[in-house]
Amino acid sequence: MSQPHLRTVVVLAAGEGKRMKSALPKVLHPLLGRTLVGHVLTAAAPLAADRTVVVVGHGADQVRAHLTEIAPAATAVLQAEQLGTGHAVRIALDAVPDATGTVVVLNGDVPLLRAETVNALVEAHEGAGSAATVLAAEVPDPSGLGRIVRDADGRLERIVEQRDATEAQRAIREINAGIYAFDVARLRDALGKLSTDNDQGEEYLTDVFGLLVSAGEPVGVHVAADHAETLGCNDRVELAALRRLMRDRVNEAWMRTGVSLLDPATTWIDVTVALDRDAVVDQNTQLRGGTVIGTGALVGPDVTLVDTVVGAGATVIRSHAVGAEVGPNASVGPYAYLRPAARLAEQAKVGTFVEVKNSEIGVGSKVPHLTYVGDATIGEQSNIGAASVFVNYDGVRKHRTVIGSHARTGADNMFVAPVEVGDGAYTAAGSVIIENVPPGAMGVARARQRNIEGWVTKRRAGTAAAEAAERARRAAEGASNAGLTASEGEAIHGDTEAVGPASGAGDTATD
Ligand code: UD1
Ligand code: MG
Repeated sequence: MSQPHLRTVVVLAAGEGKRMKSALPKVLHPLLGRTLVGHVLTAAAPLAADRTVVVVGHGADQVRAHLTEIAPAATAVLQAEQLGTGHAVRIALDAVPDATGTVVVLNGDVPLLRAETVNALVEAHEGAGSAATVLAAEVPDPSGLGRIVRDADGRLERIVEQRDATEAQRAIREINAGIYAFDVARLRDALGKLSTDNDQGEEYLTDVFGLLVSAGEPVGVHVAADHAETLGCNDRVELAALRRLMRDRVNEAWMRTGVSLLDPATTWIDVTVALDRDAVVDQNTQLRGGTVIGTGALVGPDVTLVDTVVGAGATVIRSHAVGAEVGPNASVGPYAYLRPAARLAEQAKVGTFVEVKNSEIGVGSKVPHLTYVGDATIGEQSNIGAASVFVNYDGVRKHRTVIGSHARTGADNMFVAPVEVGDGAYTAAGSVIIENVPPGAMGVARARQRNIEGWVTKRRAGTAAAEAAERARRAAEGASNAGLTASEGEAIHGDTEAVGPASGAGDTATD
């Protein structure tokens, strides 16, 4: 058995990425759930390197802060001036003077690179005992990239940059992906011999290959099976193209595990999202961050979920959610907005034009229409009437509302927190609830209605309304003459009014 190799990973991320035309350093641009450099570090993670060094320069503070979040074990090394990829690796190695074995160097802007490919490169390199191995790819359009120059026997001779290449060399379509494995001792030695005698006056890491070949050291080329993996990102058009490729890759992988994507071209799933078998994602849907979709759930069309957990069998339609939890068989939307810590239990319902924030909605409880639920706890099997507002903010502080189980609150209620509505309680439509409603009570908090008879006839004489009123008066007279007494009509109306707040509220809310 061969000796276990110690490994060091070096990621080059000091460049500005001028063509991105961005205040954000290039390697921090996001691509379906990770930054560019985040993708590269993820591809290198299975190497289980002893040390990871990231060379930072442009936007160093921002890049460092990001690394602290995603790769706290990595060492950031500052390259104050970008004097070339060779210079960058040289100072990276200065930070790990005791490194032995293999050093894997990766450009920070190659987000489609797969871990399997990096592994295969390193295994080929270590297996052959090479001094250096470069990841190469045959590409349709090699412009701007370094070319792999081979001798008559097909052995690597050197890598030449486009700008330093001859006409014949420019015709080569085998390119340097910017991913390499080196024997660290021989790399150090060669880096010390780099010149800046090239079109950019920089220390080129790629020149290490020519130097090693001249010294008779064994070097290798590992050709990537899928050239898309080696695509770098230089501007936002390329970034968009990479995003589409990544989308297709992610979508295909989920479909192969048993997830239905009804329109993969408009479905954007971050690499950090998880979906269970038989989940169905309808068109124009974005699933981001730590979102998890349970088995049999239906999400979409037109849904954006960020860090949101959707339980088995739940449905989410035309809605936006951030940091929310949707319980099993719960239903959301169309047109709902779930904000952080909105938690819907099993079979809960949040309907149309409803916003929920930092609230629990208990098992089977419903908030069907036009409502804001903020900082509330709602028990089980309760129903919140349409067009209600949980008034949580006194202008300085937030307060909680507690609604019990099996409660029926009327339409158009304001719950002025802190306030509680007990189990089995009702509230009347149009109430402003500022005091607790005990269990089983009916809370009524609204002015009583008063009708001023004949007001329109007197005050708005000659209008269409007055004429309609007059016609109605005559029709009622006719009906009365035909036998129906006015008192019967009043009795029915009065009865409705007596229980109206209860049944009226309930009806509106449950519908
Ligand atoms: C480099 C390679 C080229 C290869 C291409 C693949 C060299 C000389 N050329 O060219 O053969 O085909 O990548 O994409 O290496 N960086 C630093 N410090 C520096 C210079 C660069 O950290 O001083 C970083 C950049 O941020 C980037 C990476 O190194 O992540 C590559 O640099 P870049 O300028 O993009 O090199 P290319 O011209 O693309
Ligand atoms: Mg580049």
